[in-house]
Amino acid sequence: MSSLRLGDTAPNFKATSTAGQIDFHEWLGESWGILFSHPADYTPVCTTELGTVAKYKTAFEERNVKVAALSVDGLESHQGWIKDINETQNTTVNFPLIADEDRKIAGLYDMIHPNADSKLTVRSVFVIGSDKKIKLTITYPASTGRNFDEILRVIDSLQLTAYHKVATPANWKQGEDVVVSPAIATEDIPDLFPKGHQVIKPYLRTTPQPNLN
Ligand code: BEZ
Repeated sequence: MSSLRLGDTAPNFKATSTAGQIDFHEWLGESWGILFSHPADYTPVCTTELGTVAKYKTAFEERNVKVAALSVDGLESHQGWIKDINETQNTTVNFPLIADEDRKIAGLYDMIHPNADSKLTVRSVFVIGSDKKIKLTITYPASTGRNFDEILRVIDSLQLTAYHKVATPANWKQGEDVVVSPAIATEDIPDLFPKGHQVIKPYLRTTPQPNLN
């Protein structure tokens, strides 16, 4: 059991999946990644979640993100369930489902929370950068399906703030103004952010999103 924190390297593993044998780091390559666990195959909320992720294929590709799902069910169970997901969610599952029957990966990523359920994985989400570092962790309970729009929104923020000296305010969405990093002196803002800026307080300076025309 390990507890992963932001900035840690996402542990590598080899696994059996519906897309064949995977070496996780090799499979990620230069891409960003999302590794997310679900409690069990053939369950209603999980069925809607995996169907939703399949429909977001283009959104993930646009952001150079590869997605893999995981549960402690076996490969045969995953393969059978995918047929149900495709049928009921009107989609085609287009990402690997990892079979973690021996709970090795669940242990590496601390996906089993014994006081919630001693055997099943909770709904964990790990966003992993192209440097293989963990950029985001979210844990949802079994009874709550995830909001994948929120996960895309955070990836947009992570990818923006990785390349520009900005941060994104509460409820920020693509196209909205961003906050200038506190490390930037106010007198340096015009050179760095030629689209303009507003000084609301000396520590709260905003500017239009810098990577849009
Ligand atoms: C579900 O995915 O529907 C689910 C899984 C485990 C517990 C409750 C709901």
